Amino acid sequence: MAVREILKMGDLRLLRVAQVVTAFDTDALHLLITDLLDTMRAADGAGLAAPQIGVDSQLVIFGTDSINPRYPQAPVVPRTVLINPVITPLSADQTEDWEGCLSVPGLRGKVPRFEQIRYTGFDQYGDPIDRTVAGFHARVVQHECDHLLGMLYPMRMCDFSQFGFTSVLFPELADAADD
Ligand code: NI
Repeated sequence: MAVREILKMGDLRLLRVAQVVTAFDTDALHLLITDLLDTMRAADGAGLAAPQIGVDSQLVIFGTDSINPRYPQAPVVPRTVLINPVITPLSADQTEDWEGCLSVPGLRGKVPRFEQIRYTGFDQYGDPIDRTVAGFHARVVQHECDHLLGMLYPMRMCDFSQFGFTSVLFPELADAADD
């Protein structure tokens, strides 16, 4: 168990296309997931992708079992380990909403995302995951899986007038975290 360093934007390791995971239910995989969970909890993150701690694997975690202080208005997304994900948009409709990222600390931006998606993949035991989701849940999955493509949310933004410091945009969240 360990809280790992989170890489910040500018680190080239965040721009790689991550490698497919080929071995499930291994000690190394379980250790990686424990480290990701510990690191996400310590930072009050809504999700975390393996590349954010420098691990070049198609693995993300997201969700919480309770309200997240960084996103107090957000609905609860079940805690999930998602490996080798594939996302299919279910319509062309996109909506814009605020996002933050532990690799882009102190900032928030409005990002367009598909409103409804299906996502498939595997959990840490190799059991399949197949969900159809919308809204915040869909947004979180698209954000985290983008990390596996070397994409950070500012690279998805269309309107940079909707980009700024969390402490200025959302002063009520100022003590939530420096993210
Ligand atoms: Ni992120």
